Amino acid sequence: MEEELLRLQKEAEQDLASLTEIKELEPFRVKYLGRKSEFTGLMRLLGGVSKEDRPRLGKLANEIKAELENRFSVRKTDIENQLSASGAESTSPDLTLPGRTIPFGKLHPVTQIMEEICSIFEGMGFGVAEGPDVETDFYNFEALNIPKHHPARDMHDTFYVNDSLLLRTHTSPMQARIMENQDPPLRMIAPGKVYRRDSDITHTPMFHQVEGFLVDKKVSFADLRGVLGAFISKMFDDDTAIRARPSYFPFTEPSAEIDIGCVICRGKGCRVCKHTGWLEILGAGMIDPEVFRQVGYDPEKYSGFAFGLGVERIAMLKYGINDIRLYYENDLRFLSQF
Ligand code: DAH
Repeated sequence: MEEELLRLQKEAEQDLASLTEIKELEPFRVKYLGRKSEFTGLMRLLGGVSKEDRPRLGKLANEIKAELENRFSVRKTDIENQLSASGAESTSPDLTLPGRTIPFGKLHPVTQIMEEICSIFEGMGFGVAEGPDVETDFYNFEALNIPKHHPARDMHDTFYVNDSLLLRTHTSPMQARIMENQDPPLRMIAPGKVYRRDSDITHTPMFHQVEGFLVDKKVSFADLRGVLGAFISKMFDDDTAIRARPSYFPFTEPSAEIDIGCVICRGKGCRVCKHTGWLEILGAGMIDPEVFRQVGYDPEKYSGFAFGLGVERIAMLKYGINDIRLYYENDLRFLSQF
């Protein structure tokens, strides 16, 4: 019994000396000082020891236990103090470290160009309005003189939601929505997202347009030419050439496509302008009397012009970008250049 007690004491002292971490304290206490420890087991056996030996062994056991408890509590305090000392050091900031720079975010190039386009037209007195991406068949087509089965519907590869709802294929429906609610004189632009089932290096299924129109008495094609000329010289260079080519849109008559002198080769002819020296940048025309009738305007009294331009295309020309899909790949190496 005495041997057992001394062996246990020695073992406990060795273990105690090797304690270094807080998480080791409790297992040690359970093993040597707990109610189920080997030590407690030995104390219980004292009952069976001879009468002569019992007082001596009992005293020894108590002394060993008290000593161990004492040493354990000293060691525990040491370890706890050490930890809080080193902990205090690591949480206090090192004021000599250089600051961490936070990189600035930027607006997406399409957003930047969109804002630039809007601010140029706002500078000419145009108001800005936005409309729904999910549009009715009526505003997207019918109100713009594109009835069902009209061959012009072929120009739009439409995403239909159901028979009467679709993702708008252009921002032109905003002409009808605005004219329906306001009387002339009117000059408005409508920027926003449009959708078509198309995807290659010059088309993405979602892209951005800015629609613009002006309605008043005696508005002429010369007014359209003047406004677009002012816009193009602000957006590109003052000396950018412009030409209008006859074209067809169901909601304008006459209709035109507007080209600018190639911003890459300055009209000499290159791959971007397919050696024509010209780049097509928008569609435009005089608002068709049929559109006026749909919204309750008198076509004998009022006239107006409208235009629609593609924002990605303008940004591509301005920055010399050759693949429209780059805008939507979220590659920071591309996006951070603008
Ligand atoms: N909505 C036409 C399109 O997306 C662009 C357009 C052409 C708009 C002529 C107009 C316009 O307002 O007059 O292809």
